[in-house]
Amino acid sequence: MARLTGKIALVTGGASVPGLGSATAIRFAQEGATVWITDRDGAGAEKVAAGIRDSGGQAQAMAHDVTSEAEWDAVMAAITAAHGGLDVIVNNAGIAVLRPIDQMTTADWMLQNDVNLNSVFYGTQRAVAAMRKAGKGGSIINISSVVGQIGVPACAAYAAAKGGVRMMSKSVAMETAAEGIRINTVHPGMILTNMQDVATADNAANYDATLALIPMRKMGEPDDIANMNLFLASDEAKYITGAEFTVDGGMTAN
Ligand SMILES: NC(=O)c1ccc[n+]([C@@H]2O[C@H](COP(=O)([O-])OP(=O)(O)OC[C@H]3O[C@@H](n4cnc5c(N)ncnc54)[C@H](O)[C@@H]3O)[C@@H](O)[C@H]2O)c1
Repeated sequence: MARLTGKIALVTGGASVPGLGSATAIRFAQEGATVWITDRDGAGAEKVAAGIRDSGGQAQAMAHDVTSEAEWDAVMAAITAAHGGLDVIVNNAGIAVLRPIDQMTTADWMLQNDVNLNSVFYGTQRAVAAMRKAGKGGSIINISSVVGQIGVPACAAYAAAKGGVRMMSKSVAMETAAEGIRINTVHPGMILTNMQDVATADNAANYDATLALIPMRKMGEPDDIANMNLFLASDEAKYITGAEFTVDGGMTAN
């Protein structure tokens, strides 16, 4: 039996291919979920949803800027009107503004934290409300990073946002645990996506040195994260909340 049969799931930032959101949405649909894919790139999200439908899965897309509270409300209204509630959310949309501290502007800092941290607060708050209303628990998966766990240069704003996602998730998990609303974070290492292509190009001189930091000596694939998200979304993870899951080829183990 499919692992997410009957579940309604929302994945933000699902337009990018290869990307962690699209890989997660496709994996969820393969396991029987009805998936809502949102992205500021609405056409890209629709393309991923159409691919899922063409393969026999169930998917819908919406344009959605995760920094807009009004757009969050519109997305949640559409999902609850269609299905009466939401079982799973993956707060995945994000950007990487990577600069050494002496080159980082206040605008860089604010943008990074708006897109990668404030958005996760908006999404978590709204998912908790919808899950509480339906009264049958749920799974909230917030995508952090190894940069939310260890110090990495040129990442002050990104680290602040991802560390914030990690601790906010643990805090809210304590508020919702007794209701069966599970909140966990996933911490990818270096995974081959469009975002990683940009980060690697920006940092080409250090590429080999970066790879040397990974004990498995290779970057991960989007499926490595999608499969972790699948486990946390499923009832197999029913006793897991407030926890953090690192998927990094061993990068943070030493
Ligand atoms: N790829 C990695 O190595 C890696 C490592 C650690 C953490 N992460 C995190 O995983 C998540 C996904 O990353 P990815 O590598 O798939 O990136 P990606 O750039 O391939 O995809 C990110 C998606 O988010 C969307 N997005 C950006 N800003 C948005 C906004 N304001 N509103 C709605 N959508 C928006 C983009 O349009 C894009 O489709 C991010 O939160 C990222 O920080 C990635």
